[in-house]
Amino acid sequence: MRRWTIDPNARNWQQSPDFAAAVSLLRDGQLVAVPTETVYGLAADATNARACAAIYEVKGRPQFNPLISHVESLEAAERHGQFEPKARQLAEALWPGALTLVVPKREASPVSDLVTAGLDTIALRVPAAAIMRDLAEASGRPLAAPSANRSGRISATTAEAVIAELGGGIAMVIDGGETPVGVESTIVALTGGHARLLRPGGIPRAQIEAVLGEPLVGPDRPADTAPEAPGMLSSHYAPSAAVRPNATEILPGEALLAFGPALPESAHRAIAVENLSPSGDLVEAAARLFSSLRRLDASGAGTIAVMPVPEDGLGEAINDRLRRAAAPRG
Ligand code: TXA
Ligand code: MG
Repeated sequence: MRRWTIDPNARNWQQSPDFAAAVSLLRDGQLVAVPTETVYGLAADATNARACAAIYEVKGRPQFNPLISHVESLEAAERHGQFEPKARQLAEALWPGALTLVVPKREASPVSDLVTAGLDTIALRVPAAAIMRDLAEASGRPLAAPSANRSGRISATTAEAVIAELGGGIAMVIDGGETPVGVESTIVALTGGHARLLRPGGIPRAQIEAVLGEPLVGPDRPADTAPEAPGMLSSHYAPSAAVRPNATEILPGEALLAFGPALPESAHRAIAVENLSPSGDLVEAAARLFSSLRRLDASGAGTIAVMPVPEDGLGEAINDRLRRAAAPRG
């Protein structure tokens, strides 16, 4: 596996031989791990069924969970999906960014049925991360990219975490340091009728509702599985340790995932402590969520006690991930 380190903000890779190598690996049907502003993605040519099958294989992911296709622009997205006025409005206001739109798939789109899991809709995202946009544009392909973790586990927000999760089976890991947003994109379905929130994520619900001028419906089922798709995964984002949310007291032997300036009195009992945001900032907390869970998991604690996190702004996405990290494991 090749490792290429970039400064994601410098955008100075266009002439780099590593960039050319990444493009030709993708065109060749290989897997490349790419940092986005949300989490690392495990990218492959979305039009190449064999390459996409390799994604499922490396992740150990159930086949029915469809993948997001990443493209460089709204114009490119419109080659694969049909954008009704509300969908276009959201794309114009919030792309590039941490928003995935599920729209009807165009018949003429060459995106593999493995990516859409045979649905007649497609999930599209123009990421803020220029490296992913540039790779899609230079390869001339939409890039299917789920989060670069083993299925059901904590998403990777660093290249080290990608390598620990997936290691073999990936041709190249592009190391762009820690991803700034830290939770996955918000997924909104615009497939007729009301706009529906399928997964809370890096763009808060209120920001999307402000663009639409109406409330989003849902989510009404465990996210991270398309409501339209068969099968549901309520347990997800799971560390090895058990997760105990809304903890106001720490039991002996537990690790503590704290939030805010005031820790419970029993915090001294914790065998390891991470604070998502000592100042109580939800943006900072989202950015630290997955790496903090990873570090607490490595402490060897049997249980991670998690202090309550408010539900507003990015809190909705953080609490969604914590609930699923705590869900009974299948
Ligand atoms: O931030 C992100 O969204 C990251 C980065 C890499 O872009 N990607 C990511 O992908 O989180 P993944 O595969 O872990 O989650 C994709 C979600 C799944 O919950 C899947 O069910 C949903 O997108 N999805 C994909 N296609 C869909 C469709 N046609 N209808 C409904 N949901 C869909
Ligand atoms: Mg994922």
